[in-house]
Amino acid sequence: MLIRQKPDIPSYEITSESHYLNRRSFVAGAAAGVALLGAGQALGSIGYAGVELGGEVTPESIVTSHNNFYEFGTGKSDPSEHAHQLTTSPWKVKVSGAAAKTGDFDYEDIIKGFTPEERIYRFRCVEAWSMVVPWLGIPLKDILAWFEPTSKAKYVEFTTLYRPREMPGQRSYFSSIDWPYVEGLRLDEAYHPLSIMAVGVYGKALPNQNGAPWRLIVPWKYGFKSIKSIVKIRFTEREPKNSWQVIAPREYGFFANVNPAVSHPRWSQASERRLPSTLFNENRMPTLPFNGYAEQVASLYSGMDLSRHF
Ligand code: MTE
Repeated sequence: MLIRQKPDIPSYEITSESHYLNRRSFVAGAAAGVALLGAGQALGSIGYAGVELGGEVTPESIVTSHNNFYEFGTGKSDPSEHAHQLTTSPWKVKVSGAAAKTGDFDYEDIIKGFTPEERIYRFRCVEAWSMVVPWLGIPLKDILAWFEPTSKAKYVEFTTLYRPREMPGQRSYFSSIDWPYVEGLRLDEAYHPLSIMAVGVYGKALPNQNGAPWRLIVPWKYGFKSIKSIVKIRFTEREPKNSWQVIAPREYGFFANVNPAVSHPRWSQASERRLPSTLFNENRMPTLPFNGYAEQVASLYSGMDLSRHF
């Protein structure tokens, strides 16, 4: 598992010191403890070799320019072209439902007590392309527990910002999504140690196109579960309705666990194109159950028919 929480190497030896000095205030108090070492190796500022199971880390230029963020358009380059319009400071987060601490919070106030960690995860889109990404994130459990969910909280729902004046995709007449974008997890999935709230990537603050200022990352699920630019968190007794399930319930479910044995109705999920992928070299590889994290997460679903709960 690609997690090491309390590294004995200072963060500035892992990525260049200037990255850390340039980063925005969210990490200012916490940078000292930020790190992840892939298979025991320090992350060099040039290469991120030695990633267990994941292959090589995808170049930063691809991770930040080949995106799905329909709020900025449906093309892969739309988010990197248009997301600079988004203002992310101040950033308010509304917390509601079955929790002791609810109300309106400043994003900075929520995260200031936490130390982001670097996690290198495989990332598999339901469209059958994939990447390996060095996120900087906070364990989701730590953030959610801070709001003190009650025993009634069985699920957690997340909502993306709705701000059409800064998000051209939300103004489009052709949009298939009934905004805002919504996602959800069972609380035990959210509390799994692999689930994080990412606040950065490549040792820097998250670029807008990747979901600034924070977004979910659940590496054993298809990428659409990893909702971006979150402004609402709601604890609930009932399973939330996620946006893609509402749009096409036969194609997208609530669980969305990566599963090579269950085809999308329009294409196979047995393999994936690992980016960079070209016409001449697709870089195709087999897709692994739970995106390769079965050992860690399969027990969350014991007894469930995963072809029905897709
Ligand atoms: N979150 C919001 N709010 N809007 C979106 O369109 N797209 C999802 C997910 N989160 C999406 C979103 C999909 S389909 C994928 S594959 C990932 O974001 C892509 O994340 P990336 O652009 O950082 O690779």
